[in-house]
Amino acid sequence: MLSDDLGDKLGSWTEISGLTATKPEGSNFRTTKATRKLKADDKNVTKQKKMRDRSELVPYTFAGKKLSIREIQVSMDEEVGYKVWHAGEAFCEYLEGGKLDLVDKTILELGAGTGIVGIVASLMGADVTLTDLKEVLWNLEENVRRNTEGCRHTPKVQELTWGRGLDRFSDMSYDFIIGTDIIYFEELHRDLIFTIKHLCRPHTRVLLCHYPRWPSRDKRFLELLQKDFVIVDQCKFLTARLFEAKRISKR
Ligand SMILES: C[S@@+](CC[C@H](N)C(=O)[O-])C[C@H]1O[C@@H](n2cnc3c(N)ncnc32)[C@H](O)[C@@H]1O
Repeated sequence: MLSDDLGDKLGSWTEISGLTATKPEGSNFRTTKATRKLKADDKNVTKQKKMRDRSELVPYTFAGKKLSIREIQVSMDEEVGYKVWHAGEAFCEYLEGGKLDLVDKTILELGAGTGIVGIVASLMGADVTLTDLKEVLWNLEENVRRNTEGCRHTPKVQELTWGRGLDRFSDMSYDFIIGTDIIYFEELHRDLIFTIKHLCRPHTRVLLCHYPRWPSRDKRFLELLQKDFVIVDQCKFLTARLFEAKRISKR
C-alpha cells in the first residue's frame, strides 16, 4: 500500500520526530499523516491540471525578446497570481525603457504572479529572485524556465508569503525590491510593509508600481509605508503609478 510504503521510507516515529516519546497506543499517526499529504498532493495535481486546461500561452514582446507567458482564467475565489496585471505590463515597459541599469543588480520581486516582470529584468541582465505564494509557484516556475534560457544570471523562484518565514532571507542583500499591483489588498498592508522593511538594506531601492483602482487604499498604504520609508521619487507611467522608496536611516 502506498501510504505504508511511504511510512517505511520515512522511518520510525521516534526517528522522524527526533524525540524518545512513545508512539501513542494503537496510533496510526504516520500512515494518517502520510495519507493526508498524498491526498493533498493529489488534489493539487488535479487542480493544476484543471487550470492548465483553461490556460493559454500569451505572447508578449519585451526587451527585444518574444515571451510566452501562461495565463489562466480564474474565478473570483481563486488566486490572483495567474494573469499578467496591468501594472506588471506597464512596469515591463518602464524597465525596457532603460532608465534603470539592471546589469548584475540583485532584485527581489514580491508577488511575482506569472513572473513577467522578473523575467524581463532577468533578460536585461539582473540577478532576480521571484517570489509568491506557494499555490502559484508551479506556473511561475514554468514561465520563468520557458523564457529565461541563456540569461546572464539564472533567475530563482521562491515561496514568500508576506510577513512569514523571512529569516530565510536574512543573509540576502538586494539592490532593488520590486512589486507590481501588490498594494491593493488592505488587510495585507502591514505584512507587506513588514516584509519590505525586513528585506531592505540601507542601499536598497524599493520600486512599487500599481494601477490606481482604489486611490484611498493606495493613499493609506503610502501613509503607512512612510513611517519607515521616504518616497524619493514618483511618477505616472502609462496608466500606472510608480513609487521609489528608501528606508529612513536610523541614527
Ligand atoms: C494582483 S497580483 C499581481 C501579480 C504580478 N505582480 C503582476 O503585476 O502581474 C498580486 C500578487 O500578489 C500575490 N500575493 C497575494 N497575497 C500575498 C501574500 N500574502 N504573500 C505573498 N504574495 C501574495 C498573489 O499571489 C499575486 O501573484
